[in-house]
Amino acid sequence: MASPFSIKSLSSANNSTFFLVLVLISLCLKLAEAQAKLCRTSCGGIPINYPFGIDDGCGSPYYRHILVCSNSGQLELRTPSGRYPVTNISYADPHILVKDPFMWNCQDRDNFRPTRPFSLDTSTHLRLSSQNDYLFFNCSEYDVIIEPKPMFCERFPEQCDSTCDSASYLCRHLPECAYALSQSSCCSYYPKATESLRMMLKYCKTYTSVYWRNLGITPGYNQIPEYGIRVDYEIPVTIHCLQCEDNVKGGGTCGFDTESQNFLCLCKKGNVTTYCQDQNVQHNRPGAVAGTVTAVSVAGAFGIGAGVWYLRKLRAKAPVTHGVQSNENRLF
Ligand SMILES: *[C@@H]1O[C@H](CO)[C@@H](O)[C@H](O)[C@H]1NC(C)=O
Ligand SMILES: *[C@@H]1O[C@H](CO)[C@@H](O)[C@H](O)[C@H]1NC(C)=O
Ligand SMILES: *[C@@H]1O[C@H](CO)[C@@H](O)[C@H](O)[C@H]1NC(C)=O
Repeated sequence: MASPFSIKSLSSANNSTFFLVLVLISLCLKLAEAQAKLCRTSCGGIPINYPFGIDDGCGSPYYRHILVCSNSGQLELRTPSGRYPVTNISYADPHILVKDPFMWNCQDRDNFRPTRPFSLDTSTHLRLSSQNDYLFFNCSEYDVIIEPKPMFCERFPEQCDSTCDSASYLCRHLPECAYALSQSSCCSYYPKATESLRMMLKYCKTYTSVYWRNLGITPGYNQIPEYGIRVDYEIPVTIHCLQCEDNVKGGGTCGFDTESQNFLCLCKKGNVTTYCQDQNVQHNRPGAVAGTVTAVSVAGAFGIGAGVWYLRKLRAKAPVTHGVQSNENRLF
């Protein structure tokens, strides 16, 4: 008689254990979900990693409010001249690719639409890449020095800053539509600053930007031109962030306090100023400022391949003429 009863009670005990496990699992899932919601890791199929964030408090404060994930799931770059659709972000060779819908494209042919110069906030850690080529169409020959550049200038553009090259490879082979222009003139120009784009556009009807996309592992050999703007960025390397994201130390997400902008390691159990599995965590301690260290010392200290860390490119300061003629650079 006793056996059916004991079986019943045993099975009910099993049921409640099972229920408890279910509750625990769903709690864990909720936690993971909350963490996932705290810092989304992609937008429109484009991965969002450190130093970027599309949720406030995620990533590095250097790039706060720079990327926006629109309601329709389109990643956009915010600059003083507008919001531009981002087509890709590379973290290994740090750059963002954006499209400017106001720039000339193949469908426009000789019918130019009003355009606006692309600009970047110079106070941010974003730079127009030197791998962009800009093609200007129907420029005023009085205001812009337009002439074919010798080979010398192709190799050392900074020394031939002020001329717009009417015989450039790209003008003769417009990507995707080699013969789209029949009546309009084309010249290419390497701007020193976004300011140059604004100056040039005063004297040209429209323009477009072409970047060289690396196809293979051997840079320089497998590159194809594509319409778009390449924007280079720097990855601020901090010991705090390296420790925070270290899986052995708890695998957190680098973020910052939205009020003080001090570093925070975002962990499942809450935010800390060190790393998720730090034994001496004091949650209410004011955040220590994450010092920016040089790439070299971090690579040395942590044995990380130096190639991943980006150092700001140092370029010779040539006189900036913005491509437009002035009394100093007038050739005739
Ligand atoms: C985006 O960039 C990554 C890394 O550079 C590359 O592997 C991927 O093919 C790119 N995606 C597109 C759509 O260009
Ligand atoms: C560009 O200039 C050429 C020659 O001056 C002219 O025929 C053409 O209509 C211009 N195109 C546009 C779109 O302004
Ligand atoms: C952790 O930081 C994020 C971003 O600053 C904030 O939204 C969130 O409320 C914080 N969570 C806790 C538990 O402090």
